[in-house]
Amino acid sequence: MRGRLSGTGPRRREGHPCRPGVSGSRPTCTAYRTTSGPDGRAGRARLAGVSANASPTGQTPTATPGGVKNDAVKDSAFLKACRREPVPHTPVWFMRQAGRSLPEYRKVREGIGMLDSCMRPELVTEITLQPVRRHRVDAAIYFSDIVVPLKAIGIDLDIKPGIGPVVEQPVRTRADLARLRDLTPEDVSYVTEAIGMLTRELGPTPLIGFAGAPFTLASYLVEGGPSRTYENAKAMMYGDPELWADLLDRLAEITSAFLKVQIEAGASAVQLFDSWAGALAPADYRRSVLPASAKVFDAVAGFGVPRIHFGVGTGELLGLMGEAGADVVGVDWRVPMDEAARRVGPGKALQGNLDPTVLFAGREAVETKAREVLDSAADLEGHIFNLGHGVMPNTDADALTRLVEYVHTQTAR
Ligand code: CP3
Repeated sequence: MRGRLSGTGPRRREGHPCRPGVSGSRPTCTAYRTTSGPDGRAGRARLAGVSANASPTGQTPTATPGGVKNDAVKDSAFLKACRREPVPHTPVWFMRQAGRSLPEYRKVREGIGMLDSCMRPELVTEITLQPVRRHRVDAAIYFSDIVVPLKAIGIDLDIKPGIGPVVEQPVRTRADLARLRDLTPEDVSYVTEAIGMLTRELGPTPLIGFAGAPFTLASYLVEGGPSRTYENAKAMMYGDPELWADLLDRLAEITSAFLKVQIEAGASAVQLFDSWAGALAPADYRRSVLPASAKVFDAVAGFGVPRIHFGVGTGELLGLMGEAGADVVGVDWRVPMDEAARRVGPGKALQGNLDPTVLFAGREAVETKAREVLDSAADLEGHIFNLGHGVMPNTDADALTRLVEYVHTQTAR
């Protein structure tokens, strides 16, 4: 049995600590709201002008290496829930909260390729802040993509609209593996720059950094693009386990370096996306994937920032995904939260797990299904409310805003 966090408290109250006008705990920067140009350049000067927390050197306590230095961030509901401490309300954020569901995102992205936009710090800052301003979520997630570090080490790839990452020359042989060199902070200096800006703008709101897990990255590299079956990747895993292990180990090193850059720049939590790990049987996951993911979690263990581990269709893998070293395990909508807690075992917080398609079903259905998630999570040691996978591009942005408000009011303690 898992211990109760702090009791579920009164369930229906009028407000919560972050409703407008009650706390100043949301980013107050409005500089980008309507005026930032598509290249984000106009925003830069404005950003500097409104950075209430910036010192003359541009350094802030949160921008110094490792750990969460800002007390307000440390005391946020999101980080408390990650640490399994009592919370004033259940924190909420959404995977893919920044993206095509937001008209303001579509506007600033007009004419700019996805990967290009990930390399422009001002634009990244603007896009990352958009859902925090609009929905009043409890955490921001750094706007980027899982293939950015691969692009940064010179892999020829692109993100094609409506398709996803496409790799020009797939990695299939030992000679191909040699193309995957180490990632240095200089390769991703735009990430350090953007996170510096973001931590200043976000104030007390935590910033989640992220990376793709070795298996999910390998699935794109070996297949050459998105796949339903992962036949080439799995053929390497089953047919040439040594090459596979070396590939995943290489990716673990690149991923670790990428997460360290984000933490040292000021990210206050990290999420490892192993989105496609659900394609694997537990024994294969344990033997051929878990060691590489564990290496990533080990590499960032010393920074004191919570580590979240997420995948889709991973009901059978939840225990192993916790074992890999995460502090928080992400759950999709296929397993109820109380059952997920049993599978993960004690000592970890859980994140999830509303089916993202519920948001198309109208307000009443959203509230009913969100209530089910909250009830199922009521006895968890720590719960972060999220969708079971990313926000879908056609989702009504207002439905997301209402959902945040619903979870906050329902769980106010
Ligand atoms: O708000 C956030 O969550 C941060 C942004 C984010 C993106 N990608 C931006 C993006 C995050 C966390 C990711 C991670 C990512 N990228 C994953 C793991 C998460 C998951 O969804 O399982 C994966 C598998 C990818 C690979 C990828 N990149 C896919 C499958 C796609 C979608 C292709 C499409 O057009 O539908 C992308 C492109 C991408 N990454 C978009 C966004 C907002 C859409 C492209 C656009 O807006 O032009």
